[in-house]
Amino acid sequence: MPATAAAPSTVQDRVSVDDIVHTGPGTLGGRYLRRSWQPVYQVADLPIGWTVPLKILGENLTLFRGSSGKFYLVGNRCAHRGTQLSTGMVDGEGLRCAYHGWKYDGEGRCVDQPSEPRPMSRPLKITGYPCREYLGLVFAYMGEGEPPELPNFPHFEGEGIVVSHRIVWPFNYFQHLENAIDEVHIGFLHAVSPYQGGINNEVPVISTERTDFGLVQYGARSKGAKRATYYFMPNLTSWSQPPNFPGENSWRDMLGYRVPIDDHNHVTYTVTHAHVPESQREAFLAHRKKEWDDLAKLTPVEDISDDVMSGRMRFQDIPFRGSGADMTRIQDRIIMMGQGSIVAREYENLGEADTAIVLLRQIWLEELQALRDGKPLKKWARTMPAPTSGL
Ligand code: FES
Ligand SMILES: [Fe+2]
Repeated sequence: MPATAAAPSTVQDRVSVDDIVHTGPGTLGGRYLRRSWQPVYQVADLPIGWTVPLKILGENLTLFRGSSGKFYLVGNRCAHRGTQLSTGMVDGEGLRCAYHGWKYDGEGRCVDQPSEPRPMSRPLKITGYPCREYLGLVFAYMGEGEPPELPNFPHFEGEGIVVSHRIVWPFNYFQHLENAIDEVHIGFLHAVSPYQGGINNEVPVISTERTDFGLVQYGARSKGAKRATYYFMPNLTSWSQPPNFPGENSWRDMLGYRVPIDDHNHVTYTVTHAHVPESQREAFLAHRKKEWDDLAKLTPVEDISDDVMSGRMRFQDIPFRGSGADMTRIQDRIIMMGQGSIVAREYENLGEADTAIVLLRQIWLEELQALRDGKPLKKWARTMPAPTSGL
């Protein structure tokens, strides 16, 4: 048979949505997410001198907080005989293994081996990733080389109160990001949620455009301006949400990070910037605490969503509780779990109202294709404007 020239480009050379949803070490999606700072914990959740085991982007790690209050993210296993390092003790700005006392600094370098007659005779290092604090969250840079500058959002730093919360979800992070820019669903899925402040009374007309930080999705309603929801590459969205505290004088600015634990689970870090005068800070925080405490006494969100998904409860019979703040969480959880732990996107039939989702995938695929081909990646802007309510 005559020799034939290699086919110039085959479908295998092209990246696909599959590459976005898989984010473990070495995957294209994982390499891309690791090129930006990712939130890994809430500052208030880890006291000085404590450690916690974390799984992030498929990697098992240990977050610890040194005596100075600084955070450090290192590997999960001791380099000596492999025990779980989060069971060790914080010692100054380092972490000492509970088994034989080997100690690691914040970059993962072994700096003490008290059980060895000739300690430190060869250099040993486990994983160590730099950490920073911003808006009450701990961010880590898990990529190669020098970390980029941390993005910053000046409208969250001005007057008002910033609070955050962290929730674990049992499905792939990317369907949650797609849900966050799918504003059409608010008029159906959340139609009975009073918490939506009226934006759920009508199905908006969706349009979208590229920006220097990712994309913007507009939801136009018959009265008033367009609601702008932003997507900040690679895995952050920003939207505005109605106030629910008596002293709040306008809609809240929201940030929602979706960070993979592994390919089938993720964490959301939601940051709220509430427009509340400083004089009402304590009252606002007490109001918020009571809201969460009251919800914690009720049937867990997980049990309600399981009841609906298994046919023991009808969707329309989900009880309205408290201020309604967790109604959207229950509804969103049901429909995103209902998509499967990773959406089978080959069976979808997207419509014109899905324009933001189409653009989002396109932007991600362009970036992953460039990463795979060794071509330059987009230099995304480090900030974005405040979202708008459209009401
Ligand atoms: S296993 Fe950690 S010091 Fe031995
Ligand atoms: Fe939703």
